[in-house]
Amino acid sequence: MSGSKQLRLGAFMRPVSIHTSAWRYPGSFPDANFNFAHLKRFAQKLEHGKFDAFFMADHLAVMNMPMAALKRSATVTSFDPLTLLPALAAVTDHIGLIATASTTYNEPYHVARKFASLDHISGGRAGWNLVTSANPQEAPNFGFDEHLAHGERYHRAREFFDVVTGLWDSWADDAFIRDVASGVYFEPSKMRALNHVGEHLKVRGPLNVARPVQGWPVIVQAGASDAGRQIAAETAEVVFSGVNNIEAGRELYGDLKRRMVAYGRNPDHLKVLPGAFIVVGDTVDEARAKKKHLDSLVHPDSGIATLSVRLGHDASKFDLDGPLPEIPESNASKSGQQKLVEMARRENMTVRELAQYVGGAFGTLEMIGTPKTIADQMEEWLTTEASDGFNVMFPYLPQGLDDVVDRVVPELQRRGLFRRDYEGATLRENLGLPRPANRFFADSKAAAE
Ligand SMILES: Cc1cc2nc3c(=O)[nH]c(=O)nc-3n(C[C@H](O)[C@H](O)[C@H](O)COP(=O)(O)O)c2cc1C
Repeated sequence: MSGSKQLRLGAFMRPVSIHTSAWRYPGSFPDANFNFAHLKRFAQKLEHGKFDAFFMADHLAVMNMPMAALKRSATVTSFDPLTLLPALAAVTDHIGLIATASTTYNEPYHVARKFASLDHISGGRAGWNLVTSANPQEAPNFGFDEHLAHGERYHRAREFFDVVTGLWDSWADDAFIRDVASGVYFEPSKMRALNHVGEHLKVRGPLNVARPVQGWPVIVQAGASDAGRQIAAETAEVVFSGVNNIEAGRELYGDLKRRMVAYGRNPDHLKVLPGAFIVVGDTVDEARAKKKHLDSLVHPDSGIATLSVRLGHDASKFDLDGPLPEIPESNASKSGQQKLVEMARRENMTVRELAQYVGGAFGTLEMIGTPKTIADQMEEWLTTEASDGFNVMFPYLPQGLDDVVDRVVPELQRRGLFRRDYEGATLRENLGLPRPANRFFADSKAAAE
């Protein structure tokens, strides 16, 4: 197996399924988002399948959608990631634990402290998904009337990254001598205050947590705009992307890695993992039938609300069982609108079917088939540089997750595309990422590598 390119697999677990009607699928756990026993079972099963990471997205608000749709949604509420992940750390041994934290509605000292704590509690398995907050409804929960503008959010995010990583470097790895005989707990020359004064942030430091086990928790990003790609190229070690076809995957992959080289980073130090919605069947037809059944459980009130947002046009007056009418151009995403209209025409979809499609898995990349066809698809993405792996989204739980672990993972292992056992003790080691040097101190652990 060594030498061949290996897939990295994360599990997108907030909410436990992205699909709007997952909780209604026969045999699923409708309360999974708020039931720790279930979440523990999922994490342990993913670890049994040697997944790289359990990933929690996060939004600091309930999404703003019409009540008719909101009341049907299990996808807009879930536990706070930095409360859940330390609990999962205690019931797992190997799997990485990645939480989202916003750089717009947080202070860097809080973020540095919580992730450093998670890294120690988990023995070096923490990752930080650095987002600038996609959801404008977060603003009023933090004393603002308006969401900070996109460009400003990214400026702040870049400075925020420097501050958080600087705080993680507050202590040399060997600062805590704990000399019982002399009564000296740490070596004073091995502590540094950051004394950061920048455009957006002013933070003295030092952090009141020892340097994280991994030096820094793994840095993850999900931005897609030019600013999002640039900050990823400068700082990220994992990118979760929303591309939904292989050409778009290759474009993003190539662009990110070129930007990294231009910035002076080694392109191997970034793993690009698109979200992939996976439905497994004994035959391709059976898998498609499962997806169709799942989509059919999306109530039109949910689907139409999402469709209206995606089209930038109120779809509630359309005939549900007729074809999609002509849609005027809007201020929303033009390319997104065009893609949907083209798909509806090409596939001869009714408005109801289109609404159930976008309202279900939100038009994400799909892998619907047998373990073999899914492995073929993954292999093509990996070997043609469209991705380094995937952030798997499950259609319903527990069965959809068990299907991937029990049926797809063994097929990938048989092909030599995925590990049979964890390579290292930390998330960084398992992802093949170097331990960052400490900017203030010669780092005994980094130097040894
Ligand atoms: C797989 C994936 C996961 C994401 N998770 C979050 C999240 O947890 N919280 C959040 O605010 N935004 C999340 N986003 C949105 C991104 O942070 C980003 O705002 C979005 O992709 C648009 O890119 P841009 O901000 O560069 O314009 C996610 C995006 C993707 C593709």
